[in-house]
Amino acid sequence: MKRIFLGITGASGALYGKKLIEELANVCELHLCITPDGLTNINLEMNSNFSNPSDFVESLSKQVLIYDYKNFAAPVSSGSFMVDSYIIAPASMGFVGRAAGGISSNLIERCADVAMKERRKLLILFREMPLSLIHLENLTKLTQAGAVCMPASPGFYHNPESIDDLISFVVGKIFDIIDVEHSLYKRWEG
Ligand SMILES: Cc1cc2nc3c(=O)[nH]c(=O)nc-3n(C[C@H](O)[C@H](O)[C@H](O)COP(=O)(O)O)c2cc1C
Repeated sequence: MKRIFLGITGASGALYGKKLIEELANVCELHLCITPDGLTNINLEMNSNFSNPSDFVESLSKQVLIYDYKNFAAPVSSGSFMVDSYIIAPASMGFVGRAAGGISSNLIERCADVAMKERRKLLILFREMPLSLIHLENLTKLTQAGAVCMPASPGFYHNPESIDDLISFVVGKIFDIIDVEHSLYKRWEG
């Protein structure tokens, strides 16, 4: 079973994080961290009122290992703890800047730092528009350090009929990169 770390930050697109938890919880060992601004956006975008990340996560799955965003003693904080892939989704541009600067001020940034130093798979689903030169330089730096930076930007060629179709397309693209089989979107066959 793959071991995967998921970090949810305060960018718009909380539904991406929710879908990832739902889809990953049953097929891998999922380690999760949500920033306070991530939880704020979860509540804003899902019309919910969770007072802490655990309540949100337990409403989706009981199998997820969840850590406080300041818990640097969590196993995932160390490079000696083997993790197959690290996913940050949605990723704020604040996270992108701090990760590009090597500033491990919370557990999600520390995990990104670990992924890059250990040369492991790091996937960053960023969401912002338009992008400033600073954003682009930070994304370039992360890409040069081995991260896969993906815009939270679904395609439309699969004729989506719902928001869930759009979310599933993007989550399916993430699964392609972390080598997890799925049927989240229909592959293009021309
Ligand atoms: C409703 C709302 C939507 C936001 N959307 C974005 C966004 O799409 N992208 C982004 O980079 N920041 C966005 N922000 C700002 C981040 O939440 C803010 O920069 C925060 O400090 C990120 O912290 P974190 O990376 O620790 O979660 C949004 C904030 C709010 C309240």
